[in-house]
Amino acid sequence: MTGRSQAGLESARKELGNEALVVSSDARSLTDIDALAAQVKVEFDTFDLLFVNAGFSIPTPLDSVTEAIYDEMFNLNSKGPFFAIQKLVPLINRGGSVVLTTSVANVKGLPGQVTYGAAKAALRSFARTLAAELVPHEIRVNAVSPGPIDTPILDKVFPDKNVAAEVREKTIGMIPMRRFGTSEEIGKAVLFLAFEATFTTGAELPVDGGWSRFEFDASTANGQPPPPSSEEPVMARTPNHSVPEHGRFRRALAAVSAILQVMDSTNFDYTLDRIELLEQEVGRLKEKLRQIPDPAAVDAQV
Ligand SMILES: NC(=O)c1ccc[n+]([C@@H]2O[C@H](COP(=O)([O-])OP(=O)(O)OC[C@H]3O[C@@H](n4cnc5c(N)ncnc54)[C@H](OP(=O)(O)O)[C@@H]3O)[C@@H](O)[C@H]2O)c1
Repeated sequence: MTGRSQAGLESARKELGNEALVVSSDARSLTDIDALAAQVKVEFDTFDLLFVNAGFSIPTPLDSVTEAIYDEMFNLNSKGPFFAIQKLVPLINRGGSVVLTTSVANVKGLPGQVTYGAAKAALRSFARTLAAELVPHEIRVNAVSPGPIDTPILDKVFPDKNVAAEVREKTIGMIPMRRFGTSEEIGKAVLFLAFEATFTTGAELPVDGGWSRFEFDASTANGQPPPPSSEEPVMARTPNHSVPEHGRFRRALAAVSAILQVMDSTNFDYTLDRIELLEQEVGRLKEKLRQIPDPAAVDAQV
């Protein structure tokens, strides 16, 4: 088992006992991955399941994605996993397998998840192609694709408790099963793919309460059509330039501020110049907002 934070490693050691090898290893670092493979070789020689799970999302809309955010998302969610597979597969026994953790974000177009979703989509593609490459070695490669799961990730992604609670409530409203999943449910799916699904390779198993499988609307769940809406469908509206302009800059400002908050509360190795760049962006967006009249304020005055 690998991780970075001292607290996480200590608690894993305590829970798993002396039989387990708990290693401090940064999933983004090729040097750490090489060292990990060497250590596993010495301790175990070979093993049966490689579960590539570490990952994280920094929700960012298109206009606020910086090179640092793009690189962070791909280094942790695609590049690191790729090289972990490359370095560790030679130690997997025939009949063993690799299980990757992707995300519902790689099939659903979730706003703000453009780089995270794409990085996880690369993992889904790795599972399919490497399944084909590793058939001759009798190693299966599959993926679990979680929907919202109750783990500390939500609080890390949204450090503001109110925002986290709001996101949580909104998300539950979109899930057919009307709840978050649990780590145990992911664990069962991983073990199933790893040890029971012996005729399954190249597959991605959604564990998402049905979210990615079908559209769900509580009002149509009993087969009745939804009540007629008096609202004009959003896509049919004629563009109104002044309103979206203001909204666009406000959303961008909220996103950049949220990223700064996330950077502050995680131990990613962001360099000062990256943080300064984002702070400058906050200043630029505030200036833009001062220049464009807020349509809500104008309405209120009228
Ligand atoms: N929870 C969800 O709703 C959800 C939904 C879809 C997909 N997923 C995916 O599921 C996986 C597990 O997420 P989770 O919800 O369990 O998140 P979590 O509670 O934040 O746990 C993530 C784990 O990854 C480790 N990690 C993060 N960055 C690392 C790095 N650079 N090097 C080594 N270890 C690192 C963390 O260890 P340290 O704390 O020691 O850094 C932690 O143990 C991720 O790939 C995530 O993208 C989660």
